[in-house]
Amino acid sequence: MLLVAAYISTQTETGLLKYRSLVDNQSEAMKTLVLIIMCAVVLMFPFTASIGTNPAPETFNIVNATNLAKPGCDSRCGDLIVPYPFGMGINKNCSIGTGFQIYCNTSFNPPKAFLRNGDYNHVVQISDSTLRTSNLLATVEYRIVSNYTNSPYTFSKVNKFTVLGCHDYAWLDSETKYKNVSTGCMTICSSVDDAIANECSGSGCCQSSIPKDISFYKTELRGLRDSNDSRPVVEVPSGSYAFVGEGDVFSFNGSADLRDPHLSDRIEATVPIVLEWAIGGNLSCAEAEAMDGFACVNSNSQCVNSTRESGGYRCICKQGYQGNPYLPPGCQGNN
Ligand SMILES: *[C@@H]1O[C@H](CO)[C@@H](O)[C@H](O)[C@H]1NC(C)=O
Ligand SMILES: *[C@@H]1O[C@H](CO)[C@@H](O)[C@H](O)[C@H]1NC(C)=O
Ligand SMILES: *[C@@H]1O[C@H](CO)[C@@H](O)[C@H](O)[C@H]1NC(C)=O
Ligand SMILES: *[C@@H]1O[C@H](CO)[C@@H](O)[C@H](O)[C@H]1NC(C)=O
Ligand SMILES: *[C@@H]1O[C@H](CO)[C@@H](O)[C@H](O)[C@H]1NC(C)=O
Ligand SMILES: *[C@@H]1O[C@H](CO)[C@@H](O)[C@H](O)[C@H]1NC(C)=O
Ligand SMILES: *[C@@H]1O[C@H](CO)[C@@H](O)[C@H](O)[C@H]1NC(C)=O
Ligand SMILES: *[C@@H]1O[C@H](CO)[C@@H](O)[C@H](O)[C@H]1NC(C)=O
Ligand SMILES: *[C@@H]1O[C@H](CO)[C@@H](O)[C@H](O)[C@H]1NC(C)=O
Repeated sequence: MLLVAAYISTQTETGLLKYRSLVDNQSEAMKTLVLIIMCAVVLMFPFTASIGTNPAPETFNIVNATNLAKPGCDSRCGDLIVPYPFGMGINKNCSIGTGFQIYCNTSFNPPKAFLRNGDYNHVVQISDSTLRTSNLLATVEYRIVSNYTNSPYTFSKVNKFTVLGCHDYAWLDSETKYKNVSTGCMTICSSVDDAIANECSGSGCCQSSIPKDISFYKTELRGLRDSNDSRPVVEVPSGSYAFVGEGDVFSFNGSADLRDPHLSDRIEATVPIVLEWAIGGNLSCAEAEAMDGFACVNSNSQCVNSTRESGGYRCICKQGYQGNPYLPPGCQGNN
């Protein structure tokens, strides 16, 4: 049984208002625990985690396969291609396990895919090793908690923790198996004009890498000023934000960004959060192969250990072969 949850907690009335605008109609939500984004029952076997080799470069083999989904299962939700081991439909055995179920909400146009009904973040892309979701930004009023504990997902190191504003600081707390891990940074500027495009070194924008192998985080943003601060207040029309998102996708446009009242909407729409996925719970290839339910179809495919501390494995096609290694007939020759 595992619970995957992401929620925002509002600390002021303004926060609550902004929350309402973010999540449409669910406005009766409580003041503290506001949004449970995911809750999923998952996982298979108890066993030892084992760390494999190098992180694989991102590939898109399974979404291009002709054996994309199980027979009788949908493979598309709006713009999202949903390849097995992911699958849509609740009790239809279309995915390899509940953590891989995708819920397609056709009330949206185009339809949006979610890891669970009622989520705020929707799924925007699936690759052979990652899943990207839309973003949600922390403000002074909202902490963000994003929690994929006991699910197939961990946060990829390609994500960065970014803070935008003047005289703000923000931090991220998480835990690995053995220790508490945190990161954070602060922004300082005497005017919005201090901010320089493509530089997140502290003037209007700061950035730090996130800890490896985390499956949840809490982020919080605060103003640096205290009541004894004699420096002039710097108005930041965009507002101040902190977020985790794909580092190569977010580019800071300096003072133009800090003057943009739609900055947060733009970032939420364009800068995804990258999750890494693996199957088999914490089993390595060697362990899974020795058991029932090994997922790599036995033709031209091979197993790769996840490089995460939490273990798991994935299936890939042998070099020169293409297709979906999780479904018959497996991988096929190129010619
Ligand atoms: C994350 O979820 C797990 C269970 O799914 C729970 O035990 C844990 O307390 C949650 N962590 C946070 C920070 O919410
Ligand atoms: C692997 O996961 C199972 C639960 O699925 C757990 O009981 C076991 O302790 C885990 N093994 C390691 C080494 O973490
Ligand atoms: C995966 O990890 C296990 C345990 O560490 C190891 O025995 C096995 O050789 C690895 N398999 C691959 C394909 O890397
Ligand atoms: C497969 O599809 C993705 C996007 O869906 C695309 O970027 C990629 O180039 C395609 N081809 C291969 C061989 O991966
Ligand atoms: C689900 O699919 C698997 C094979 O992928 C099969 O072994 C199992 O019996 C199916 N379960 C149901 C309820 O159809
Ligand atoms: C689909 O989205 C609409 C609009 O946000 C929401 O009211 C509805 O409850 C969602 N449906 C499901 C099944 O989650
Ligand atoms: C992490 O910090 C919490 C308090 O915030 C503490 O209860 C917990 O024991 C710490 N865990 C480790 C592994 O140090
Ligand atoms: C402000 O300054 C006073 C006197 O120096 C000091 O007692 C007080 O703690 C300061 N307040 C803060 C928030 O630093
Ligand atoms: C960056 O800001 C400049 C104005 O300073 C504007 O002309 C340009 O379109 C902006 N670029 C992006 C990508 O927003």
